[in-house]
Amino acid sequence: MTSSAGRLRVGMIGLGTVGVQVAARLLSRRAELSRRAGLDLSLARVLVRDPRRPRAISVPEGLLTLDPVEVLDDPAIDVVVELAGGEEPARSYLERAIRNGKHVVTANKLVMAKHGPELLELAGRQNVDVYFEAAVGGGIPLISTFKVDLVANDLSRIMAVINGTTNFVLGQMARGRTLTEAVKEAQAAGFAEADPTDDLEAHDAVYKLAIMASIGFGARVRPEEIHREGIAQVDPVDFRYASELGYELKLLAYAARDEQGRVEARVHPVLLPLGHLLGNLEGAANAVYVEGDLVGQVLLQGEGAGGRPTASSVVADLVDLARSCHRQVQQRPAIEFSSNLVMLPMDLVQTRAYFRCVLADRPGMLSAMVKVFGEEGVNIAGAIQKETEGDTAEFVVTTHTASDAALRRIRERISAEEPDIAVHSFLRIV
Ligand SMILES: NC(=O)c1ccc[n+]([C@@H]2O[C@H](COP(=O)([O-])OP(=O)(O)OC[C@H]3O[C@@H](n4cnc5c(N)ncnc54)[C@H](OP(=O)(O)O)[C@@H]3O)[C@@H](O)[C@H]2O)c1
Repeated sequence: MTSSAGRLRVGMIGLGTVGVQVAARLLSRRAELSRRAGLDLSLARVLVRDPRRPRAISVPEGLLTLDPVEVLDDPAIDVVVELAGGEEPARSYLERAIRNGKHVVTANKLVMAKHGPELLELAGRQNVDVYFEAAVGGGIPLISTFKVDLVANDLSRIMAVINGTTNFVLGQMARGRTLTEAVKEAQAAGFAEADPTDDLEAHDAVYKLAIMASIGFGARVRPEEIHREGIAQVDPVDFRYASELGYELKLLAYAARDEQGRVEARVHPVLLPLGHLLGNLEGAANAVYVEGDLVGQVLLQGEGAGGRPTASSVVADLVDLARSCHRQVQQRPAIEFSSNLVMLPMDLVQTRAYFRCVLADRPGMLSAMVKVFGEEGVNIAGAIQKETEGDTAEFVVTTHTASDAALRRIRERISAEEPDIAVHSFLRIV
């Protein structure tokens, strides 16, 4: 335990969107937070890259530094709060702080998804704590809920709408915008970064699901083991068909564990039944739905991004840490990861699907297409055919549950075997 009696001195890395809000709260509410923590919680040093960059708060003289040593190696710092982002040097900084016997708090989903278990293990050996509530779901208390409040349960399912950018973009597409128009609007409204690739291609949601599934199922789920599809293939017309069929369209992060302990984890666009608990979310609103054997169903919802909601989680972690230092709890229980996790390959996942196909408008096309479904043993649940102008017809099919392998084979076979039929959309249904 590094904190000297009665105080916890914070060294922060990064003073951007989140860092500014954390610093503002620590500086303006020091007395109140210290009272809640049971010891003096003070911001002692802030590492940044560019000392001339204008900051949204005025920081006291001498607080800013450009030298990592002053945060990571100074024995006067008890806890390092990493709010810089990116994989490196953030990961090495966290490791160095832990090796130096400092507790760490981070909002970095990328580092926690890829390297969290190693950092947690190292921290266990060094007898310090790693807090990362802000890495998933901004201000929504998710990690503490999984770690503490749901710990009595065997969790069977986690479903989440967890990426604000895609949530906003899909919301605009439902109103008829193209993907490109919707992304531009998201950028103008502050919901998307200048380079939104990580969000649109679902890397961000994969990192968050990897963290939640690892903590929730107590077994390490690596980002590269999660099946990932972004929203590039979604077309505004799919929203019209979805609504006609009684669904809405979301990017869903889904993880489940079956009775044999096999885990499936995937992030892709889905059709959710209208009125679904996760359906009615707009913009930065995120929600996570969890099923546990004792608790039943739990829904956690709130602002999944933004400086202030995220600072709420970071500062809460700090106060929680300060309380455990105050009580002289030498080591909080480490998160245990079971080693016998079996990941279910996507081919074996059972799901329903939606196909939107464009056919040459002549006899025999429809039966040629339906035959492929039959040959793959997949039952059609519903269909819509629209008259189109010219010499093509649009045909939408929903299926009953089948293996994902069979559903994807149908898509590939139609494209390969029927030159006059094109599958324009293939989406799963939850
Ligand atoms: N923004 C959100 O809504 C949100 C929500 C949840 C989680 N997070 C996570 O919170 C973290 C911070 O995000 P943010 O939006 O606050 O980022 P940001 O606005 O880009 O700020 C990053 C800050 O880190 C500093 N920094 C970057 N690399 C550094 C380095 N090598 N050495 C020293 N300082 C460095 C920058 O310094 P300069 O100012 O000098 O350039 C800047 O102050 C990320 O891990 C992000 O994923 C963000």
